Amino acid sequence: MTDLAPAPESEIPGEKAGDIPGKPTSASRTTLSHIMTHNDTNLLGTVHGGVIMKLVDDAAGAVAGRHSGGPAVTASMDEMVFLEPVRVGDLVHVKAQVNWTGRTSMEVGVRVLAERWNESAPATHVGSAYLVFAGVDSDGKPRPVPPVVPETDRDRRRHQEAQIRRTHRLARRRAIKELREKRTAQGYEE
Ligand SMILES: CC(C)(COP(=O)(O)OP(=O)(O)OC[C@H]1O[C@@H](n2cnc3c(N)ncnc32)[C@H](O)[C@@H]1OP(=O)(O)O)[C@@H](O)C(=O)NCCC(=O)NCCS
Repeated sequence: MTDLAPAPESEIPGEKAGDIPGKPTSASRTTLSHIMTHNDTNLLGTVHGGVIMKLVDDAAGAVAGRHSGGPAVTASMDEMVFLEPVRVGDLVHVKAQVNWTGRTSMEVGVRVLAERWNESAPATHVGSAYLVFAGVDSDGKPRPVPPVVPETDRDRRRHQEAQIRRTHRLARRRAIKELREKRTAQGYEE
């Protein structure tokens, strides 16, 4: 079912879909769940943000690997937002999906939910993050990835928002590169 969907040419402004067949968002969407213990706490007694970030990177990496059909590495992580503290005894669910794909990169969106491990109350949204992964070959060089095919209105909104973040990331990267080149040309040594 997953490999034959058409590439979303019209949904990736300025980028042409390659020869690789598209894959729907649901084909790689993944949830990673983990119960927090005393090993996961910071000095305040709540769960360390780095523990959550590791789970986020793990879940996003699984999604990127599944979508791209091979190894994928974290190129960047941005907009990690912590909304609520996570406590020992919380069952944390890390939900991840591919929001957008370029030629060799994928933006993975991650939503973190927490619920008490032994209660049936609804889970709370405790954090969100966006990561960029690059598919890589056996030499660690970027390789083309299948275009993601958004399936629902929510997928399509996430796809559009990811395109905005992509534009900002590239503009920021280019501006910083240009500034550094200018400073080097002016003789600054750092
Ligand atoms: C990510 C990596 C493969 C990019 O390699 P590169 O030689 O710079 O190749 P490119 O510039 O062609 O980038 C490849 C893709 O990643 C994207 N990318 C690279 N750096 C990025 C960044 N900082 N933010 C967002 N996207 C980025 C590029 O836009 C490109 O996407 P596209 O093909 O869809 O347009 C390389 O920098 C790398 O291996 N980094 C280390 C990754 C790693 O080890 N992560 C784990 C950390 S322990």
